[in-house]
This record gives sequence, structure tokens and C-alpha cells, in this order.
Amino acid sequence: MIVGLLLLSLLLLVDSGEPPCSSPIPGLPGIPGTPGRDGRDGLRGAKGEKGLPAHFNMAGLKGEKGMEGPKGPLGKNGPKGPPGTPGEKGERGPRGDNGMPGNYKSQYQSAFTVKRNTGEFPEANAPIKFNEVITNTENDYKRETGKFVCRIAGLYYLVYHASQSQNLCVALRVDDDIKASFCDHLSNTHQVTSGGVLVQLKKGQEVWLVANDYNAMVGIENNDSVFTGFLVFPG
Ligand SMILES: *[C@@H]1O[C@H](CO)[C@@H](O)[C@H](O)[C@H]1NC(C)=O
Repeated sequence: MIVGLLLLSLLLLVDSGEPPCSSPIPGLPGIPGTPGRDGRDGLRGAKGEKGLPAHFNMAGLKGEKGMEGPKGPLGKNGPKGPPGTPGEKGERGPRGDNGMPGNYKSQYQSAFTVKRNTGEFPEANAPIKFNEVITNTENDYKRETGKFVCRIAGLYYLVYHASQSQNLCVALRVDDDIKASFCDHLSNTHQVTSGGVLVQLKKGQEVWLVANDYNAMVGIENNDSVFTGFLVFPG
């Protein structure tokens, strides 16, 4: 286009033909030049005023909650805690097997046989005293009182064999209870009467024989009277 304008200007100049005279005709405005290059950078500007201090109210908006992070490694064991309160008592367990046989020789031994060595009748309604010992473990039969004192709780067999020269009634007592009583009327010059019981005794209980007014118990040659007792089962 620029080239076109130049050609047009030349044609116009040629077309005028004659050189300019005293009344020149103004020419057409020239073609605008090409734009100049950018200027150099200006001087650095003055430093601006100091800004307002920051304030927490001016903080930015709270962001959204982040995603849950990955699970961390297992921590170390903590210190041992204090002991808990004791639990309730459990149920009773099953019965155990029978134990080995015990040594009864040394542990549970109680047996006596004592004898009346006198022709005199014992006192009526009082413990009959047997004055001669045949057997008496641990001195369980007391000759002073005429009573057997239970040292080991358990089942005892107690029996007497009495020679009588008159009527005789004998009762076997455990403390205040009469466990058994036996009476025999004499039908001969001398005869033997007897009686025996199994009784469960507690430790400390006492056993003795007592006659009532029929008390013709003797202990003479060939006509003995004995009182026997022994532990059958402890417990
Ligand atoms: C003992 O009893 C027998 C039989 O009853 C009698 O013959 C004997 O005389 C009695 N002994 C004494 C010392 O009384």
C-alpha cells in the first residue's frame, strides 16, 4: 500500500508538468512513517509507604479439612497397670480321686480294754470304775473317773462283758445320753451279760458304764468283767 501511495505521488508530480510558480499549490500530506522503537527503561521509582501491620482478623479463610493420613507404626508397650480387684469365687470343682492309704498305725489309734479286779459291787448310779488296764492307747480310758475320753473323732465300737453274782442292769452313756442299757436277772450262781454299740463320737465326748440298783458286777477269779472300746473309722 505504501508502494502504491509513492507511485501515486510520483504520477501527481509528473502530471503537474511544469515547475512550481509564484502561486504554489500545497502538496498532499506525506505518508506517516513507521513507528519508532521502544524507549529505554525509566529511572527506578521512589520507595512506597510502609503497609499496615498484619492482624489475625486479616488471616485468610480456613481451608478445608485434609484427608486422613496413613496409619502410623504400632507404639511400644506401656507400663504395667495396677492389679485388678479379685474375681468372684468359682464353682466347686469335681471331687478328686481317692488318696493313698494313710498310715493308721501312727495317726489314728484309740483302743482300750479295762478290767474290774474286785469282788465288790460298783456304786449304783455312778460311773463304773475298771481298775486294771489290759490295753489303753494314749491313756484314753481314765481309771480315776471310769470314763473313756474321745481323742480322735470317729466311729467307735464299745462293748462290755460282765460277770454277775446277782441281778445286773448296765447302761452305756455318752455324755448325758444313754445309748443302750442291758438287764439280766440271775438264774445261776454266776453268769455273764454283755452289750455293745457302735457310736459316732466327737473329740472330747466321754463314754462310761453305769449300773442302777441292780449292780452285782464282779471281777473275781474266773469271773471277769471287762469294758472295751476302739476306733473303727476316724472322721
Ligand atoms: C465263778 O463262777 C463259777 C461259775 O458260776 C463259780 O463256780 C465259781 O465259784 C466263781 N468263782 C468265784 C471265785 O466265785
